[in-house]
Amino acid sequence: MTNILHVEGVEQTELETVAYTVEGGIAWVSFNRPDKRNCMSPRLNRQMMRVLDELEYRADVGVLVLTGEGTAWSAGMDLKEYFRETESQGLAGTRGAQRESYGWWRRLRWYQKPTIAMVNGWCFGGGYGPLFACDLAFAAEDAQFGLSEINWGILPGGGAAKVATELTNFRNAMYHSLMGENVDGKKAAEWGFVNEALPLDQLNARVTAVANVLLSKNPIALKATKDAIRRVREMTYDNAEDYLIRAQESANSFDNEGRKEGIKQFIDDKTYKPGLGAYDRSKQSV
Ligand code: ACO
Repeated sequence: MTNILHVEGVEQTELETVAYTVEGGIAWVSFNRPDKRNCMSPRLNRQMMRVLDELEYRADVGVLVLTGEGTAWSAGMDLKEYFRETESQGLAGTRGAQRESYGWWRRLRWYQKPTIAMVNGWCFGGGYGPLFACDLAFAAEDAQFGLSEINWGILPGGGAAKVATELTNFRNAMYHSLMGENVDGKKAAEWGFVNEALPLDQLNARVTAVANVLLSKNPIALKATKDAIRRVREMTYDNAEDYLIRAQESANSFDNEGRKEGIKQFIDDKTYKPGLGAYDRSKQSV
């Protein structure tokens, strides 16, 4: 059963732009404007931030999956409501709309729980922001990815150019941005936009399986790890080495027992092998 997050004083049409359900430790969050191919309007951007707020620290949420209702993941920014209507309000309107969209993408990049993009269909332009914000990404083989900005006369802004160069190589990024040609899920996996592409009817099962593996890991270590992978990409080797020492020491102060239990179950109890899976967290005393 999907939920709509109710917020006092906010119109129903805004609340309904995002749907979610929590099941077995996984929060399934959907762009919920299927009739508009889930393009991102200011209303959707505001509601998505509220839903992320609602779910981030809930004890029953260990992994968040972001997907789309209907045939699209997200057809990018809403050309009418995000561009035309906010531009008509002047610079303050434009900047306000940017703050709202960039705000939830940033929030998602540094989310407390691991995140997975489940790209079920169209993914365009501004959609690359949340795509990159998710830690892992799985796509339907037939999903279509496009930097269509060039097709309607702008550059791939809102981080999209940055995302393309972060995820794929220079030639791919340049061709993709200049030509305005789409790539399907298979090519997106080859290019590094997503981890894997699967037939649409297998997508949900694969994402569920991945999420369940993540749920079996130490949550403090997951957060430290996902942040480390994002941070070290921009550091020199020495800076990264230092950052990782500090990050681990900081993680230890939140969860000093977890890693000790992990060592104990391997070295003393001989009940598992870290090279082959995670330790049993249910045996951890604190
Ligand atoms: N902005 C505003 N409205 C949109 C958007 C969008 N990005 N995408 C789809 N819609 C609307 C359509 O206008 C249409 O509205 P209507 O029913 O009121 O006429 C409705 O969603 C359905 O769209 P169709 O085009 O009829 O759907 P179809 O399945 O045939 O095509 C496709 C899907 C290819 C995604 C097409 O809608 C499309 O090209 N959308 C724009 C994609 C795009 O370039 N996005 C912007 C990227 S750049 C950026 O994000 C900064």
